[in-house]
Amino acid sequence: MAEQKDVLILGIESSCDETAASVVKNGREVLSNVISSQIDLHTLYGGVVPEIASRKHVERINQVIEQALWEAGVTFEDITAIAVTYGPGLVGALLVGVAQAKALAFALGKPLVGVHHIEGHISANYIEHKQLEPPFACLVVSGGHTHLVVVKDYGEYEIVGRTCDDAAGEAFDKVARAIGLGYPGGPKIDRVAKEGNPEAIHFPRAKVGDNVYDFSFSGLKSAVLNYLNSCEMKGEQVNTADVAASFQKAVTDVLVDHAMQAVEEYGFKKFAIAGGVASNSALRQAFETACAEKGVEFYRPTPVYCTDNAAMIAVAGYYEYMNGTRSDLTLNAVPNLKLGER
Ligand code: KG4
Ligand code: ZN
Repeated sequence: MAEQKDVLILGIESSCDETAASVVKNGREVLSNVISSQIDLHTLYGGVVPEIASRKHVERINQVIEQALWEAGVTFEDITAIAVTYGPGLVGALLVGVAQAKALAFALGKPLVGVHHIEGHISANYIEHKQLEPPFACLVVSGGHTHLVVVKDYGEYEIVGRTCDDAAGEAFDKVARAIGLGYPGGPKIDRVAKEGNPEAIHFPRAKVGDNVYDFSFSGLKSAVLNYLNSCEMKGEQVNTADVAASFQKAVTDVLVDHAMQAVEEYGFKKFAIAGGVASNSALRQAFETACAEKGVEFYRPTPVYCTDNAAMIAVAGYYEYMNGTRSDLTLNAVPNLKLGER
């Protein structure tokens, strides 16, 4: 049971295809982390169907929240504040979490804190690295985002690089579909790539014009598609594992290269990764090596805190709450919310 002075945040996340709730104590201690995934449902369609996602969130959210409280051994009365993702994400999906959080905040008379989904991903690093404090650099790589972020302080961010086209996770998902692995692509490519040769096929490492820290993945995706087409035209058998491994290596090389340039330029001694793609085993290994070479501390959440979850939202919510951030009952879903905006 929580003591009076403890700050308990109930986090709620519903921005895409996971309905999630979590209770976090004093910012870094996860008391429960319940995730109801819809992956099986969306697999039938080869990707997330927004309308189905919203409907499933409505069906599951009450039960997921109740379970999060039960697993944490607390009641609604013990909760200090409610934190909810209000953007970016699918508008219908976000609305379910936002409406639920507002209803709870109103009924219980508890403070409400709207949280940026990417701020949540970054904050996932605080859970297992108790000594990690800003400032540090963080690469956020997910299905919808590829951002190189300078975390100046809690709640204070500067984006120094971003993708000009596809997000890294999107590239994984599209290439996985093209080589017949299906949805969700990232984990499948990760697994299959272990059997392949990452040097078998040379795919391009795109450089983007003005900003050395920006990324581009659509050319890489096209290069994979061209390679598959040319194999088909020549009647050559495609080695799926080699394509997966070579594609994964191309993504990893670019992410590591750009991120390490920024770390060096800005003189950071701490570097973190976050988001669904941060659970990729080759990417983790590559950053581990690159950071060790440069004498930079490397931080990464365990995979369950990389992909969408509500513990990360509760952690981010805690720091926002402690900074005095409060949302009122006009809080709305903002599908294209920018990091650092409120
Ligand atoms: O952070 P996340 O759960 O949701 C968004 O905020 O987008 O990220 C989902 C993305 C998907 O594109 C998925 O394919 C990718 O993360 N992903 C991975 C791995 N696990 C998930 N990509 C590469 N390797 C993985 N092991
Ligand atoms: Zn996410």
